This record gives sequence, C-alpha cells and structure tokens, in this order.
Amino acid sequence: MDVLLGLQWGDEGKGKIVDVLAPDYELVARFQGGPNAGHTLEFDGIKHVLHQIPSGIFRSQILNIIGNGVVLDPIVLQKEIGGLAKFSIDYRKNLLISKKATIIIPTHKLLDAALEQSKGEKKIGSTLKGIGPTYQDKIGRLALRVGDILSPDFKEKYQALVEKHKTTLSFYNHPLDQLEEMEVQFFEAIEFFKTLNLIDSEYVVNQALAAEKKILAEGAQGSLLDIDFGSYPFVTSSSTMTAGACTGLGVAPSRIGEVFGIFKAYCTRVGSGPFPTELFDQTGEEMRKEGNEFGSTTGRPRRCGWLDLPALKYSIMINGVTQLFMMKADVLNIFEEIEVCTHYELPNGEQIDQLTFEVSNMDVKPIYKKMKGWNCSLEDVRSYDEFPEELKAYVSYLESELNVPIKLVSVGPDRVQTILR
Ligand code: GDP
Ligand code: IMO
Ligand code: MG
Repeated sequence: MDVLLGLQWGDEGKGKIVDVLAPDYELVARFQGGPNAGHTLEFDGIKHVLHQIPSGIFRSQILNIIGNGVVLDPIVLQKEIGGLAKFSIDYRKNLLISKKATIIIPTHKLLDAALEQSKGEKKIGSTLKGIGPTYQDKIGRLALRVGDILSPDFKEKYQALVEKHKTTLSFYNHPLDQLEEMEVQFFEAIEFFKTLNLIDSEYVVNQALAAEKKILAEGAQGSLLDIDFGSYPFVTSSSTMTAGACTGLGVAPSRIGEVFGIFKAYCTRVGSGPFPTELFDQTGEEMRKEGNEFGSTTGRPRRCGWLDLPALKYSIMINGVTQLFMMKADVLNIFEEIEVCTHYELPNGEQIDQLTFEVSNMDVKPIYKKMKGWNCSLEDVRSYDEFPEELKAYVSYLESELNVPIKLVSVGPDRVQTILR
C-alpha cells in the first residue's frame, strides 16, 4: 500500500494528485479526518471539492474506501453523494464505508462551536465540523460507529450520547435552538446511509493486498496539523501521518510501500497557530491572490509565507517519505526573487533547523536563503526539460537539502498540469 500525505498545514493539493495517480491503483482509501478536509479536483473544465469521499471516485474502475479511522458526518455525506449525481458515478458499487468509522452527530458540531467560543483569543480556528469532539468520544469509548446505525436500538444509543453532550453544552451555556432541525436532517441522512455499502474494510483492504492489488491511502490535513507532531494545541484531532494509515485502515506497517509527500512550493495555513515564515506584507498578499488561497471547506483566507525547510525536513522524517511532489510552482511565477527558510533563529541568537518542543512554542525568526525567481509563465510547460533554469535550480536545491527526490512538479490545478520527472 502506498500512502500520499500533506507535509505542511493541509491544502497542499492532495486531491488533485490522488486523482492523477488513481489510474495506477485498484483501491483508494481515506484513513483519518472527516469533513474538515476539502480536496479539490479539476479536469475537463470541471472543478469539484470532496470532503469525505476519496479522490479516486471519478475513475469508474476504482474502489473507494472510507476507513475506520475516519469521522463521518452522514448529512455531509448525503450532500456529497448528491453532488456526484451529474457525473453518473455508481457510488453503491464504488464507495465502501467501514462499519468501524465513527459518526459525527449534530451535538458534536455544537460542542465544537462551544469549545472554540470558550477559548476566546486562543481559539484553534477549527472548521467547526465536529472533528475534535467526535474523536474525543471515540478515544473516550463513547462514540457511535457506522455499524451501529443498523442496530434496532440505534436511536436509544444516540439519545444517551446526546444527553451527555447536553450536560456539557449547558455548562458552556451554548444555545440548543438549532438542534431539532439538525436532528431531522441527521435521521433523514441516516436512512440514506443505511442503503450504502457498509463493510468491514480491514478485510477488503487486506484481501486486496493479498491478491497483490495496488492501494493508495489518501491523507487529509497535513503533518504539521498532526495530533502528536503538529503545532499542538493548534492541530486537528487525528494522526495525519503514515502511521495513521496503518491504524486508520488496519494495515500492517510492513505493508507500506512508497510514501508520497506533497508540499507547496511555499507555505499556507488556515486557522490559528505558529507559522514561522508567515508574510504579513504585500508579498504575502500577492501569494494569496496568485494561489487563490482561500479555504476549500470554509472559504477563509489562508495565511501565506515562504517555504520552511526545517518544518519540511521534520515531516519527511516522521513519515518516511520516499518521493516528494512539489505543488503550485506556478504561483511563484510572479516573484523576481524567491526565499526559502533554512534555519530558525532563537531569541538567544542560536540558529537551529529542528522543530523541537521549544521551537514550536516560541517566536522564532526565520533565516532565509534568497534565490532568483523564474518570473515567467509555466502555463504551457508540459515536461521538465521545458522548465526555466531558475525553477530547475530551485528543485535541485530543495532535493539537495531534503535528500528525497522531487518526482512530480505541479504547475496548475488541472490534471494535465502535472509534470513527472
Ligand atoms: P488538498 O486539501 O490538499 O486536496 O488541497 P485543496 O484542494 O484544499 O487546495 C489546493 C488548491 O490548489 C485547490 O484549489 C487546487 O485546485 C489548487 N491546485 C492544486 N495544484 C495546483 C497547482 O499546481 N497550481 C495551482 N495554481 N493551483 C493548484
Ligand atoms: P485538507 O485535507 C487545512 C485546520 C483548521 C484548524 C485546525 C483544526 O483539505 O488539507 P479541525 O476542524 O480539524 O478541528 O481544525 O486544522 N484544518 C485544515 N487546514 N486543510 C485541511 O484539510 C484542514 N483540516 C483542518 O483550519 O486550524
Ligand atoms: Mg483542502
């Protein structure tokens, strides 16, 4: 099984690349996260954003699995499947959902909002899709799972959990006036959910591996948002790394093949938390405009800054990345000079290139290497040979620093704007 992951703070372009690579695979599987993800695909003039459904869904010969590690919102899923109607996708055949995946219920979303509000200035900038409270219930051994919806006492189990949530919500003084309407939608979505292909996905995945079928695990979020290794507490609540693909699908570590690490040629972050190379000036503004850096799930403007090598090296290390894919190179077309952060300077003047516990908890000054930009359009570039010399130099420099080959460079959002090396 190969794994594809974001190495930064999410939105690296995972959806686009899963869609590009999918024809080489028989199965594509999501292993963590949920509707907080927004994975954009563009082909034949169509732009489509997926949240919970794996990005192999547009390729008719591929099975798409939502694994046990995912937290799933039935309302969002019903809408998402509705949005696929115009593509005549046979989702009852091509979309398989683990009975062990966890269900997001309406009060999880209210709890997410209540917790964020209570944090005031220290808010995480959550997508408010109920991710944190749902994983909290999963770890707390309280949650409802997909298989539970088939049980005759599902409503009672649901009600018992809601009562617990209501106690917490009243502690936060959070209004419940939306709940009734949300519940109507929820139970309607549950009826639809029951008609989908619900499976024990760990068997399907392992049987596929035994038959030497190729599987691609599609990460959501990014390594710097990982619950253990991200900039805690400004993280998501799941394991976004290679190891998460093992627990989120029931696959042994020894079955992992290639690990594709995706990064933007610069950095973005949506939500709060440390971002050493963030630009607050005109350059940052131009990056946001040129890269159309607005959230695929929430529409929020993304914070922008130069590439951060210490952070990238860290993500490569914890994931065992074997191939790098560099996205959105075209966004840097507009700059005469490009900067790359090579080290952080600590308040005591020391320079380091590691994301230690201390570094993630203090203001550090990025030290930059300046490089000449290519400053021309990449729109019609279709092979590495056609790259301007400055872009080739940028790629070579990064490879020499990161010690992992950059096997793919993306120069635009469309499937065809993908250059393999
Ligand atoms: P994901 O969450 O990692 O799948 O990424 P998102 O879909 O949230 O955000 C990536 C955005 O960049 C989407 O709007 C893509 O269409 C777009 N995109 C992907 N690759 C490229 C690229 O090489 N160049 C440009 N300009 N846009 C890209
Ligand atoms: P994809 O898969 C970018 C961020 C949120 C917030 C933090 C916690 O599209 O790359 P959560 O809703 O999980 O409690 O939010 O994580 N975040 C993402 N940022 N891309 C994502 O997913 C994200 N999913 C969550 O903005 O800062
Ligand atoms: Mg996204």
